[in-house]
Amino acid sequence: MAVTRLLLMALMVTILSAGLAHATDWIEERVVGFKNVKALIARIEDGLSEDKLDKVGADAQTVANFAARIPDLFPAGSGQGGKTSASTDIWIHFADFSSRAEEFRRAAETLAHAAETGNRAGAEKSFSALRSTCKSCHIRYKDLF
Ligand code: HEC
Repeated sequence: MAVTRLLLMALMVTILSAGLAHATDWIEERVVGFKNVKALIARIEDGLSEDKLDKVGADAQTVANFAARIPDLFPAGSGQGGKTSASTDIWIHFADFSSRAEEFRRAAETLAHAAETGNRAGAEKSFSALRSTCKSCHIRYKDLF
């Protein structure tokens, strides 16, 4: 009896820690992805001022591809168990969170298109629109500590 209980407890601990390891993987993957986005945004800004629109277009496309994955990178249960600044509001308002990710993706696509077609004025305008989508999501869904 005692042995059975011990085995059950060991099994539960294994299952729980597997769950935590899983959450940690999601957190790591998305934080690495967002840091890469930050670096790409800096590079896009340089590219715009140096008029290297082909590079801007490619980088904006990379940002759009990441943006498309955002909802999948925040599965239920991945808001704890690691070092994360994801707000629990994400899972309370997941439809709104996902639509902000979609807005972000669309803004990046618009920038990519403007840059690829050599439309510099359009690229600059869509770059500032793209940046404002970062802040509007962070204000609601990223904890500040
Ligand atoms: C749809 C919402 C959303 C959009 C849009 C978004 N972010 Fe984030 N971002 C988050 C969330 C949520 C986290 C926290 C992830 C975690 O810690 O698990 C995060 C984390 C980050 C991080 C990781 C390091 C840190 O400060 O915690 C960086 C850097 C970042 N975002 C930059 C950006 C930039 C730059 C943009 C726009 C070009 C952007 N993000 C757009 C939601 C968003």
